[in-house]
Amino acid sequence: PDITAADAPAGCPAAGPAPALFTWEFASDPYPAYAWLREHAPVHRTELPSGVEAWLVTRYTEARQALADGRLSKNPVHHSEAAHGKGKVGIPGERSANLMTHLLNIDPPDHTRLRRLVSKAFTPRRVAAFAPRVQELTDRLIDGFAERGEADLIHEFAFPLPIYAICDLLGVPREDQDDFRDWAGMMLRHTKAGQGGGPRGGVAKSVKKMRGYLAELIHRKRASLGATAEPDEDLISALIRASDHGEQLTENEAAAMAFILLFAGFETTVNLIGNGIYALLRHPAQRELLQKSIEAGDTELLATGVEELLRYDGPVELATWRFATEELTLGGQRIAVGDPVLVVLAAADRDPARFTEPDVLDLTRRDNQHLGYGHGIHYCLGAPLARLEGQTALATLLTRLPDIRLAAEPDDLRWRGGLIMRGLRSLPVEFTPD
Ligand code: HEM
Repeated sequence: PDITAADAPAGCPAAGPAPALFTWEFASDPYPAYAWLREHAPVHRTELPSGVEAWLVTRYTEARQALADGRLSKNPVHHSEAAHGKGKVGIPGERSANLMTHLLNIDPPDHTRLRRLVSKAFTPRRVAAFAPRVQELTDRLIDGFAERGEADLIHEFAFPLPIYAICDLLGVPREDQDDFRDWAGMMLRHTKAGQGGGPRGGVAKSVKKMRGYLAELIHRKRASLGATAEPDEDLISALIRASDHGEQLTENEAAAMAFILLFAGFETTVNLIGNGIYALLRHPAQRELLQKSIEAGDTELLATGVEELLRYDGPVELATWRFATEELTLGGQRIAVGDPVLVVLAAADRDPARFTEPDVLDLTRRDNQHLGYGHGIHYCLGAPLARLEGQTALATLLTRLPDIRLAAEPDDLRWRGGLIMRGLRSLPVEFTPD
C-alpha cells in the first residue's frame, strides 16, 4: 500500500505528500523518500514490487538494533509466505542449486561454526598479501582503455575487477576466469527492478554453472592436497583444510562457501567502485582534496574517504532478508512471527540523529560508524578485501587519469533497479589519454 501523511505518528510536523517507493525515479535517488520514512514511518510495512509484504527499517538506532536481534532469523524457512511459495527471497536459482547452507541464510549455532571455519582461511593477513595482485589487476584494466580517452567505467573497470580478484583469491585458474566474468555479467544484467534479481532463466543457469564449476574445482583440489599447507596456498585449499576443534567443512559446505564469497563480494564491490567514483566526480572539491593527498603519498584520507563513500552512497541499499521467529516490537511497531524485515542501510547511514550533516559528502569524516557493511554476527566477512579493492581502484584511477570527468548528464545515467543493491548500469567518462 502507498504511504500517506496519515501514517505519520502524532506530533510529527506536517508530512507533505507521501513518496512513491520502488519507481524508476526512486531508483535514481531514493534518499528523499528515505528521509520521509525516517521522519514519519521509521518502521514501515509495505508491499514490495514482487508482491511480498515486508517491514522497512530506516532509522539508524532501530536499524542497528534489528541487525543484532537474534529473534530476526536469516533462514527463509521462517518467512510466513515461504509455505505458500509466494516469498521470492534470496539468491536467484538458489533453491534449485541447493545452496541453502551459506552464511547469509543461516543462524547460530550453524552460522557460528561455519563463520569460525571460514575466518580461519579468509584472514586479513591473506587479504593484505593479495594487495600487489589487486594493484596489477587494476593497472591491467586501466591499460585496456587509458589510450582511448573515454571509457565506461562500470563495464570496463568496476565490473571485471572484483570478479577477477575473487577468482584469483579462490584459486580459479586464469584460463577459466573469463567464464566467471560471463556468468557474473549475466547475473548483473538481469537484476530486475524490485525483485532482488528475480529468477530469470539465464540467471539461474549462470548460478548453476558457477556452482557446478566450484564443486568440481573443490573436489579436484581436495584430491590433490598434500599433507602440509603450501605458503601461497589459495583460499579454496585453505577452506578445505581449515579445522576448528577437529571439525572441517564438508565438500558441499566448502562449495557453498566459495559461492557465497563470490556472490557477496562481486556486485557489492562493483557498486563500491562505481558509486564511489561517481560521487567523487560530482564533488570536485572533495575529489581535489583526495587527489592531492594521494599525490603526497598520504593514505589516511583515502581510508577515511572510502568509508565515507560507503556511508554516503553505499553498494548495499537494504541488508539481506530477516524474518521474525517470535513477535517483537521495533520502533513502536509490532512485528508478527514470520514477517520479513528489511533494514535500509542507505537510510540509516543518512540519519541526522546519528551523523552530522548526513547529506554532505565529507571524506575527512571521523565519527563514521556507518552500517554499510552491516552489523552484528553477519557483519561483512569481506570488508578487508572490499577496502583493499576500493582504495586501490580509486587511488590508481585518480593517479593515472587525473583529469577524468563525467561524459554524461547525471540525469541521463541509469541505476540498476534491484531491491538489495544500489549501483549504476554504466558510467561514461572522458580524460586525457594516458
Ligand atoms: C555480509 C556489505 C564486499 C563477503 C555483508 C553484509 C553487508 C555487506 C551489508 C551483511 C548483510 C546482512 O546482514 O544482511 C558489503 C559491501 C561490500 C562487500 C558494502 C563492498 C564494498 C564483500 C566481499 C566479500 C564479502 C569482497 C568476499 C569476498 C560477505 C559475506 C557475508 C557478507 C561472506 C556474510 C557474512 C555472514 O553472514 O556471516 N556484506 N560486502 N563482502 N559479505 Fe560483504
